Amino acid sequence: MNPRGLSAASPRAWLALAAALLLLLLLWVSGGSGSELRVLVRLSDGQITQEVLEADSERDIITLEFRQADGALITFLADFRRHVKVLRALVLGEPERGQTQYQSLCFITRLEHGEIIPSEAMVRLRQKNPHVVRTAEEKHGVERTTLNVAVNLTLSWHLSSHIRNVCRDARDFIYTREQDMKHWLEKGVGGSIFEVLSQKMEGPGLQSCSSTADPWQPCLCSYSLRLEWYPCMLKFCRGHGPSPYKCGIRSCSKGYRYDFYTPHKQLCMWDEDS
Ligand SMILES: *[C@@H]1O[C@H](CO)[C@@H](O)[C@H](O)[C@H]1NC(C)=O
Repeated sequence: MNPRGLSAASPRAWLALAAALLLLLLLWVSGGSGSELRVLVRLSDGQITQEVLEADSERDIITLEFRQADGALITFLADFRRHVKVLRALVLGEPERGQTQYQSLCFITRLEHGEIIPSEAMVRLRQKNPHVVRTAEEKHGVERTTLNVAVNLTLSWHLSSHIRNVCRDARDFIYTREQDMKHWLEKGVGGSIFEVLSQKMEGPGLQSCSSTADPWQPCLCSYSLRLEWYPCMLKFCRGHGPSPYKCGIRSCSKGYRYDFYTPHKQLCMWDEDS
């Protein structure tokens, strides 16, 4: 906003602005242990999507789901108890081009402390005006991650009991980072759940899928997505009491780029030169 325009505004304009800001507010309520919040979010290409945020403070999880403009369904799950984060992409294929109907990818990494607000705060979040289209207050760059370890779906409950449900369709496309695997192994998670792919990835001549022509050739696939709006921090206000109290959230946007091994270029259909 133009600050000069603001300072020149009449008191009535100020009132209107204050009212508009109030409508944007997300409110705190006291309630049960589960909740669902549907918010309208503007995607980077200008399209609007409905994002569903679900929280369960008893199981200590938050899930967030939305459809991208290209039809891909993105699901994010934070398991606070196990400090595990799951990002799943359900990518639509083009059957008329010989591709499968859809392909599911699952990226599992450690959930860092403070990445997203706690589940017990999320269950108390409500919005006053569900028609407001939201954009994040804080825009973060793209975090690029190389995933060179495959995770066995059947044994994935050792990491988090929620992986089996979220990554059901991904089967052979469940990946994690080597450094996260090492961390989990140190914590006592059995090694049989992981398959290290780094030898395949560092093998001679492995190219990016976008520069590979042969559909049966192995290659390095990449997938990018952006969580356009999520509650990343709690806001505190000062009242009459001695200590500040929770009065809202700060929203963030963050991009992710995952690079991973795929045995056939055909399984990386979105990664094409265009
Ligand atoms: C995953 O683990 C199960 C149980 O140990 C095993 O039967 C299965 O073959 C494993 N899958 C892969 C792809 O290694």
